[in-house]
Amino acid sequence: MSKPLLLLTRHFPQAVEARAARDYATIPNAADTPMTGAEIASAAQQAEPVGILCAAGDAFNAETIKALPESVKIIATFSVGTDHIDLQAAKARGILVANTPDVLSVATAEIAMLLILSAARRGGEAERMVRAREWTGWAPTQLMGVTLEKKKLGILGMGRIGQELAKMARGFGMEIHYRNRNRLPEGEELGAIYHADDAGFLGAIDVLSMHIPGGAATRHWLNAERIAQLRPGSIVVNTGRGSTVDDAALCQALESGHLRAAGLDVFDGEPKIFEGYYTAPNVVLLPHLGSATVETRDAMGFRALDNLDAVLLRGEAPPHAV
Ligand code: DGY
Repeated sequence: MSKPLLLLTRHFPQAVEARAARDYATIPNAADTPMTGAEIASAAQQAEPVGILCAAGDAFNAETIKALPESVKIIATFSVGTDHIDLQAAKARGILVANTPDVLSVATAEIAMLLILSAARRGGEAERMVRAREWTGWAPTQLMGVTLEKKKLGILGMGRIGQELAKMARGFGMEIHYRNRNRLPEGEELGAIYHADDAGFLGAIDVLSMHIPGGAATRHWLNAERIAQLRPGSIVVNTGRGSTVDDAALCQALESGHLRAAGLDVFDGEPKIFEGYYTAPNVVLLPHLGSATVETRDAMGFRALDNLDAVLLRGEAPPHAV
């Protein structure tokens, strides 16, 4: 029996591609550059795959989804985020969508912790100074940051990633506060302090770490008004989605000194980056590395394949349907 056809929009880790090739006739994206929506649709129209393995950033908007051939039964995204996929449009076409939750929580929390540390201890500025050969030696007042011990970490979005970050931050002696749609069951809070409103939350913390999904409902959640509710000298870190931050407002607060520093792994319209960040000394910038570990990327790929296998090899529902 011939293997089902699977369109890959990107290069995936070797072990993931090997497993995909074992069970499917795969159609790779030879270039490993992101395909436009029109390119994805055209590749699908030519090959008529039953499944598509895609990734964060692929433009599965309504137009792309409308142009997919009838053959496509499932879009499995190699990501937990699904803001690059128009879920309504997929539903209207009867195309299943599945994602890869859980397996990237620790890796993404690690990047949040890295950004919190880098922002607090001025890691970006220090590295740039050394590399520019501008370090003239140890000095009592050089590049002083702030210590994390006893500081209040505010986690916006206390899902799996937020809870992993809380675990790590407790090890640094931070007090954990959180804002979430729902309060966690008492046994899962582990001493974290729940806030039922934004103003109370923002006014109580020293470091804000953002873990909310993208999309219209959260667009520019961190705007000038909410930034003003943060205490002077606060730090902002975002490893969720860039669209949740009003970049102009954040840059302005970094420049005025209302905020001490920021650390960003995600950007609105990435890989395009808001121009002001390039020159702001007190912002640490990473290229969307949240899940980028060998272990995690393999696990994400296997989870995406589990979703595809359920639908395409066994005729079952995907275990991680969105
Ligand atoms: C996700 O899974 O949504 C990440 O942003 C990609 O690592």
